[in-house]
Amino acid sequence: MPPPVQRDQELELTIESLAFGGNGVARLDLGEGRGFVVFVRAGLPGDTVRARITKVQRRHAEAITTEVLAAGSLRVEAPCEHYPACGGCRFQDLDYAAQVATKQQWVADSLQRLAGLVDFPLEPIVPAASQFHYRNKMEYSFTQEEDGATLGLHRAGRWDEVLEIRKCWLTTDLGNAIRNRMREWAREEKLPAYSQETQEGYLRHLVVREGRNTGQALVQLVTARGERFDRERLIEVLTEFPEVRSIHWSVNRGVSEVTNLPTELIWGEDAIEEEIDGLRFRVRPNAFMQTNTEMASQLYGLAREFAGLQGGETVYDLYCGIGTIGLSMAAEALTVWGVEISEESVACAIENQELNSIGNAAFFAGNVGEVLRELRERSGQPDVVVVDPPRAGLAGKALKRLGEIGAPKIVYVSCNPTTLAGDAKRLADVYGYKLTRARPVDMFPHTPHVECVSLLERDPNFVYVEPERSAVVRGRSSGAGPVADPRPAA
Ligand SMILES: C[S@@+](CC[C@H](N)C(=O)[O-])C[C@H]1O[C@@H](n2cnc3c(N)ncnc32)[C@H](O)[C@@H]1O
Repeated sequence: MPPPVQRDQELELTIESLAFGGNGVARLDLGEGRGFVVFVRAGLPGDTVRARITKVQRRHAEAITTEVLAAGSLRVEAPCEHYPACGGCRFQDLDYAAQVATKQQWVADSLQRLAGLVDFPLEPIVPAASQFHYRNKMEYSFTQEEDGATLGLHRAGRWDEVLEIRKCWLTTDLGNAIRNRMREWAREEKLPAYSQETQEGYLRHLVVREGRNTGQALVQLVTARGERFDRERLIEVLTEFPEVRSIHWSVNRGVSEVTNLPTELIWGEDAIEEEIDGLRFRVRPNAFMQTNTEMASQLYGLAREFAGLQGGETVYDLYCGIGTIGLSMAAEALTVWGVEISEESVACAIENQELNSIGNAAFFAGNVGEVLRELRERSGQPDVVVVDPPRAGLAGKALKRLGEIGAPKIVYVSCNPTTLAGDAKRLADVYGYKLTRARPVDMFPHTPHVECVSLLERDPNFVYVEPERSAVVRGRSSGAGPVADPRPAA
């Protein structure tokens, strides 16, 4: 049967719910109990909208709202003048209680329906402490207007268009002021914005990071080739803000729009500091740090609670970034071993360990899937493994190696419930783990992102038989390796 709609067709639709990712879900009744789902951008639950079909597939279609005909009861006034044109927020006009209920449901659907993991209590989502001004990092793009360069964020649904931003509700007054001052600077200096289309122009991106609990700010300017600006003037402009401690410059010679580039420190200190739960963390331009400081503290608190450390445990902090989770657990553990692929983040983790005078942690750079066996040879069997992977989850060999190691507890901090679901299912089906706790956390109000902290506990009687070698992999092992040993000398 052909799909019941065509591209560009306009329809009146009633939105039932929000699908994972943030599109409204509407259903066309085809009779005889059959339905056809339309995913509607900018449609909120309870709305009746006019929508234009943008894509048609065999089983569903996609559409964009052209007019809200009758607003649902969950709609609220979005405070931001740039909403909904700006791509930074997805549902600022959805009541916050409905946002968190939706995120809770997405996590439930992923774990229960997708992975079939039903035998555990899904704990209630931790709502964000602040619904606005919560981000500690913003990445803006320069774009050219008729009267000069300006700064903004990508337009909703467009990677090729930047919308000028005067006040972003996700950053702070300081963040907004720095961005607006840099706009003036670009105009005063008559510097043109780089164009992705023509690959001409000069100014590309501006990254502003803030230590929200220390009041320190780091600014990274990204340009095309060549030094076409006056350094002294740029420093003068940015140091109008006493919070700015660190100014970096990066050159992007390629076409892709990236900011994780080598940087040249042009003024101040090479890193800024953030404070979380009484620990200080140095943050360099390319090092990973959770972008909501307030909620990072709650996320780490949950990870510690789920780990249930008693003081004698060997803990792995995999995908450790600048060491925040591991260092926050170190006081309750025997040893902490962190692994992270970004050398800049590892350098920060090592500095952070020293900064906080923590003697029982070690960090090293490596790909989790590649280095786990070697780590176990060095550290012995872990009691608790904390994993906090990127959106792709335990990719490559990481899950297999983790399963083989068979720590009694895995605390899984996830930023993507669908990959969490797949990984948790595989850890359960193949490696003897049971999901015993899971609690979603809203780190990013008004966006479709949701974090979840889970606890997977291994059946102590489970014996993993490695298929290819039919060898039993279990028990404790130790051995020499190149990793620095965080344990006190015997
Ligand atoms: C979601 S962040 C978590 C960082 C840290 N746990 C925190 O809370 O700040 C994921 C981290 O994994 C790192 N990463 C990505 N792929 C990796 C891999 N294959 N092996 C090791 N680290 C990886 C990234 O550089 C990033 O720092």
